[in-house]
Amino acid sequence: MRNDNHGTIEKAVEALKIGAYDFLIKPVNIKRLGILIEKALEKQVLILKNIELQQKLEERFGFKNIIGKSKEIKKILEVVTQVSSRNSNVLIYGESGTGKELIANAIHYSGSSTQRAFIKVNCSVFNEGVLESELFGHEKGSFTGAASQRIGRFEMANEGTLFLDEVSEITPSTQVKLLRVLQEKQFERVGGSKTIEVDVRIIAATNQDLKELVRLGKFREDLYYRLNVVKIDIPPLRNRKEDIPFLVNHFLTKFNQQYQTHIRGVTQKTLNMLLNYYWPGNVRELENCIESSMVMAQDEYLTPKDLPEYVTSQSSDEKSLIIDLGTSLKDIEKLVLTKTLELVKGNKAKVAQLLGIGVKTVHRKFEEYGLKPVSKN
Ligand SMILES: Nc1ncnc2c1ncn2[C@@H]1O[C@H](COP(=O)(O)OP(=O)(O)OP(=O)(O)O)[C@@H](O)[C@H]1O
Ligand SMILES: [Mg+2]
Repeated sequence: MRNDNHGTIEKAVEALKIGAYDFLIKPVNIKRLGILIEKALEKQVLILKNIELQQKLEERFGFKNIIGKSKEIKKILEVVTQVSSRNSNVLIYGESGTGKELIANAIHYSGSSTQRAFIKVNCSVFNEGVLESELFGHEKGSFTGAASQRIGRFEMANEGTLFLDEVSEITPSTQVKLLRVLQEKQFERVGGSKTIEVDVRIIAATNQDLKELVRLGKFREDLYYRLNVVKIDIPPLRNRKEDIPFLVNHFLTKFNQQYQTHIRGVTQKTLNMLLNYYWPGNVRELENCIESSMVMAQDEYLTPKDLPEYVTSQSSDEKSLIIDLGTSLKDIEKLVLTKTLELVKGNKAKVAQLLGIGVKTVHRKFEEYGLKPVSKN
């Protein structure tokens, strides 16, 4: 061989560039070749396994799992498809059980970001100090109990997505820190002085009217605009009833598989009852309702007697109110408050949500008017 080291190295580099696993020069050492083949095969298996796992994740969490044919859901699916291939922050708003987490999952798992980190934090379950250390991490000894250094969720989510659930619960001082990461992509761990840089896309979810919280001075306006680059508003299930039959079928299939049952559908009367019900707990409540009905079912089709009592007992006239013209606004307010409280079985937080006012206001009004739920008779 001429002094050919140079040429050999060039060839090796080229081969590796176009995807060769390794490069051997002649004469080939058979033992080394054997080891290399084994390693290359192992790597191939890992790659295939990884692809398989990614596909499973996409199947399980991708947007095929979002069921519904209403124009609202179609619009949401369009937005999901668009934002999944971009890196913009998304704010998801919807009452409890409307599918906020489902949609956050779909945004992450149906785009090119699937391979990247997807980290979730529920902001309502931690107090301020703990939330900050969850988000930003902490240095050893930064507070009593900080026995070792800890990486926060922002660092874990670097180059990927961080899902901030119940974002309205973040306190003002943590809001400032969050704003800084969003604006400058920088932060320090709790008790640390080193500045850490991250590039993280935020999907935030809330069942509160954040704009109203901004107006009340409870949520920073600048943070609101940073989070609200793309807004997804999920309407309550009662406002998109045409989705109910599709969701019912979806849950029947799901629970048939889970419980090894063979329920084929629901009778027309049952479907009518499901369509008439108010669904204060939205899709989650419908899912639970179908599951418990299937446990009770004796026939191939679910009948009204299989449904939970709270669904069958709510006749449609309980959901409407006839008010004579000329009634004072105060009396109308009283009537609406008491009827709504009945509808949601005495849950004042639900009344607040349905009527779009704060829970405290509901309590105050009930006290002020000396109201009690209207008797059924
Ligand atoms: N359009 C939909 N298609 C299929 N399943 C749905 C749909 N919307 C919601 N679900 C199901 O309903 C349940 C509740 O959804 P999810 O947890 O995403 O709601 P959420 O808005 O995050 O609720 P919460 O406010 O309580 O956190 C889940 O089991 C979810 O899979
Ligand atoms: Mg949720």
